[in-house]
Amino acid sequence: MKTSFQSEKTSSIFFCRTCGYKSFKWLGKCPECDEWNSLVEDMDPAEITGKRNAGSKRLTAFVSSGPALLKDINVTEAYKIPAGIGEFDRILGGGVVPGSLILLGGPPGIGKSTLMLQIAGRLQVQTGGCVLYVSGEESLAQIKNRAQRLNVSADKLYLLSETKLENIIAAVNNIHPGIVIIDSIQTTYKDTIEGGAGSVAQIRECTVELVSLAKSNNIAIFVLGHVTKEGELAGPKLLEHMVDTVLYFESEATHAYRILRVFKNRFGPVQEIGVFHMCHDGLREVSNPSMIFLPENRQKTAGAACVCALEGTRPLLLEIQALVSRAPYNMPRRSVNGGDVNRVIMLLAVLEKRAKLPLANCDVFVNVGGGARVKEAAGDLGVAIAIASASVNFDVDAGMVFIGEVSLDGSVRTVPCLTERLSEARRLGFRQAMVPKAGLPAANVLKLGSGFELLPVTSLSECIKILK
Ligand code: TYD
Ligand code: MG
Repeated sequence: MKTSFQSEKTSSIFFCRTCGYKSFKWLGKCPECDEWNSLVEDMDPAEITGKRNAGSKRLTAFVSSGPALLKDINVTEAYKIPAGIGEFDRILGGGVVPGSLILLGGPPGIGKSTLMLQIAGRLQVQTGGCVLYVSGEESLAQIKNRAQRLNVSADKLYLLSETKLENIIAAVNNIHPGIVIIDSIQTTYKDTIEGGAGSVAQIRECTVELVSLAKSNNIAIFVLGHVTKEGELAGPKLLEHMVDTVLYFESEATHAYRILRVFKNRFGPVQEIGVFHMCHDGLREVSNPSMIFLPENRQKTAGAACVCALEGTRPLLLEIQALVSRAPYNMPRRSVNGGDVNRVIMLLAVLEKRAKLPLANCDVFVNVGGGARVKEAAGDLGVAIAIASASVNFDVDAGMVFIGEVSLDGSVRTVPCLTERLSEARRLGFRQAMVPKAGLPAANVLKLGSGFELLPVTSLSECIKILK
């Protein structure tokens, strides 16, 4: 005999918050993505509606049109609508593709609603067609207030304060917008699905419905979603595979600039970044981001060296700062802000062993200026030189940039896109570049001119010897 407890359990299912894996029982570790404690209990939408896998069937319905020969398919390059905001259009590979679903994720308060209201206004003016901005978080008056502050003026920009998906779809069918913004997916819900707005089942089902709406009506739909730093909230992570494009808005808490990063794009490049600055009248694009990461009037100093890191296809000049001090109680600390601590520990070992710098009993602090991050090995040489300069106390010229990967044997290896990095450094007024000797043929292709000097090196010790 079934107890009431058991019969209740039959319509429960567990979802992984990170990858969306489904399980009928709770598991401590997700077998799909190996994440611990990521399974949350939710209602199974298929059980509730009585249509198992209804969601996935609907997802494929609009793409299956029978087999066709590749040579017989006529398409023109995907048409893209530019918003006229350079940083935004560039990361999307030229603009917004009609019929696509774009997920914009980010922590609460970072500026998702602000950016999208500005974009909505621009896109309306660019296309001349209707744009619908749906908010489940703010009233019409609040959105209007914000729009005034942001100087958004667009004749055919409709606002709707609504959380019920059925009503949102009815509004779309009524006014036929070319672009729709859903702010946010966590506040949107479908009547037929049990569980409150923001539950895993609601988020999945609503997104499936929105994908279908976008494809069948050729509407570009932006879906906004909150994620916390710990990925606590179920949502955006779960949707990545369902949508065409995934953008994440990030920032270091203490800085006014915001980075919009592309994680997935079916119609353009990935790993591109767009940089914005939050001002009193909304987000402004920063088209020359190296300028905000580098301090003004840099002076020659000990413990700081510039590197040129690549973000997507864009070279960024960043300042690496290092501080080396004697460790009390023989317990040396290694603290890294804006980079990989393990990479720094490796560089410390190379400096100790190959360049004979006594660092084992020292505290070492490394910081990337302006709150930026260096994720590439191409920053190795600059990081190592900043530490060496702080430890031995020699000055590094402010007009010099360091580009190169450091191997365990202390040699300096070449890096991809050396010429792009060098031209950016020169454009920003740098006069000298320490580069891997092996990369010279590529670098020489550049007509660097008389004001810029290349200093080729083969090893870290050679580089330190030149600077001392
Ligand atoms: P918001 O777009 O509401 O964030 P999200 O939708 O990601 O939760 O942004 C809110 C923050 O932005 C808030 O802290 C105030 C700030 N802000 C400005 O600094 N200037 C502005 O012009 C606007 C509209 C917001
Ligand atoms: Mg918001």
